[in-house]
Amino acid sequence: MINSKQIRQKFLDFFAAHGHTIIPSASIIPENDPTVLFTTAGMHPLVPYLLGQTHPAGNRLASAQKCIRTGDIDEVGDLTHLTFFEMLGNWSLGDYFKQESIAWSWEFLTSPDYLNLDKAKLAFSVFAGDQDAEFDQDSYNFWLETGVSHKRIAKLAKTDNWWGPAGQTGPCGPDTEIFYWTPSTSLRAGGSEAAPEDFQATHADSRWVEIWNNVFMAYDKQADGSFASLKQKNVDTGMGLERTLCTINNISDIYQTDLFDLAIAKLEELSGKKYKDQATDFRIIADHLRAATVMIGDQKGIVPSNKDQGYVLRRLIRRAMRAAKKLGINQEINFCSTIAQIFIDQLGEVYPELIANQPKIVAELNKEETKFKQTLQTGEQRFNNLVLNNKKISGVDAFDLYQSYGFPIELTRELAKEKDIIVDEAGFVAELERHKDLSRTATAGKFKGGLADHAEATTKLHTAVHLLLAALRKVLGDGVFQKGSNITVERLRLDFSYPDKMTPEQIKEVEGLVNQAIKDELPVTVQEMPLAEAKAMQAMGVFDTKYGQMVKVYTVGQGDKMFSCEICGGPHASNTGELGSFKIIKEEASSAGVRRIKATLS
Ligand code: ALA
Repeated sequence: MINSKQIRQKFLDFFAAHGHTIIPSASIIPENDPTVLFTTAGMHPLVPYLLGQTHPAGNRLASAQKCIRTGDIDEVGDLTHLTFFEMLGNWSLGDYFKQESIAWSWEFLTSPDYLNLDKAKLAFSVFAGDQDAEFDQDSYNFWLETGVSHKRIAKLAKTDNWWGPAGQTGPCGPDTEIFYWTPSTSLRAGGSEAAPEDFQATHADSRWVEIWNNVFMAYDKQADGSFASLKQKNVDTGMGLERTLCTINNISDIYQTDLFDLAIAKLEELSGKKYKDQATDFRIIADHLRAATVMIGDQKGIVPSNKDQGYVLRRLIRRAMRAAKKLGINQEINFCSTIAQIFIDQLGEVYPELIANQPKIVAELNKEETKFKQTLQTGEQRFNNLVLNNKKISGVDAFDLYQSYGFPIELTRELAKEKDIIVDEAGFVAELERHKDLSRTATAGKFKGGLADHAEATTKLHTAVHLLLAALRKVLGDGVFQKGSNITVERLRLDFSYPDKMTPEQIKEVEGLVNQAIKDELPVTVQEMPLAEAKAMQAMGVFDTKYGQMVKVYTVGQGDKMFSCEICGGPHASNTGELGSFKIIKEEASSAGVRRIKATLS
């Protein structure tokens, strides 16, 4: 059994011995590519150099690169899906080409000094050729030169054997892929059957697992779909460390390798449960907290938020916490950072930024954990109120729990089950879809990546309206009341009672108060209470009966830091710190005695 550390080290040693400079992993946030949130391949940070720029470390490079893929977060929990993974790669920037690349791959895989794989279990695919580029005869010949049988070399079309980066345009080319036969992995059928001789006929059999991809980048895909020649011919290879570790050791479960064993053991200790009895929850926690550790500890440090990378991070931490709850882990102990510490120790040798950022990783995880615990608590109160006199949670209520309290439907389902209550899940899904449609229409073209959706942007603006109203009352006096408001994904509009045009100084003062409240990171909490009680605590709001007897009161800040208190249906941000920077863009008359402000968050 060869472990992850050995594979990584052998790979880097091998290519160093062949004249490559070992470069450190770049950030997991791509430098100049706004089309994707995360680095998804080792070549990603090297695009400018593949296009011809001179790399300061030379024209032979190798690395272990941190990568994140978020397409499959909901799949995590099975045997193989991961959010964070490491890609080993070697590059030629206009230096060596197919012959050396193939010969070295063969040597690394089969030499007793390196991976020492069984040659009888290896197979290769090369590009078959089409109207854009010819059959890759050279790669075919170079594989034959290693001594492999021609039957083990498949010729495949562009869908299989052509690689380019995630974006539409950029460096790309035919590739040759290396497969390893995994007969006895318990997941796969076929027992200990020997590798089939004819790879062309059997390449689609899932027992052939791709472990390495060598891309021969000689083209630059243009926006019109055509392929221009690159200035230089490059080699770009990628070997997923985790997959290779499993494949060559014939292990079907990545969580039962040295990459995860310490974390799993700690989770067993904390939960008193056995991995094999509740594997899915163990895996979700281990994967998500490993990814979260790498994200916060990155060179460019991501923190939980409601936008872009920060949103993905928040989602991962919260999903891990829910799984921890299911395992019965005592969450008083800052368990996220306890698990993170294991990954910092393990990966810190390879990615030293994790050690340098250790205090930040611990602090951010503890902060998010505390925050989400509060959310869960208020959500549970809301849930209990809902089911006080009712044996059913409607779709709209389930959606409100999800939207306003961060309660995933699974959690509502779990709580309901404990109390013998029915949840209208079909109604929830319908509500969710309706909401998604609304936000899709509203945000078409506005947010790339689809993560920061309409709901999040408007939720923050909604909270900003509360801050603005409170600030106006502080500056202009208690005669100010809300007369109307309107929110789009880009701005808020508030109409309020006040007889005069505001002076520039007053506008500045109001803006300053709101921004100070944002800077103070005030918590936003919600409580349900009878209308009379809300009035008694002087909550602002429209006191008509349409709210019914019970109302929600949103409070920003607490105690002597209480900034605003309003009756409102929500939803709101959970902390003003999420809002960003507040700016008043217009102050004008609306009607007699009513002024109108338009403002933005950025
Ligand atoms: N860039 C290639 C890949 O990610 C090597 O597969």
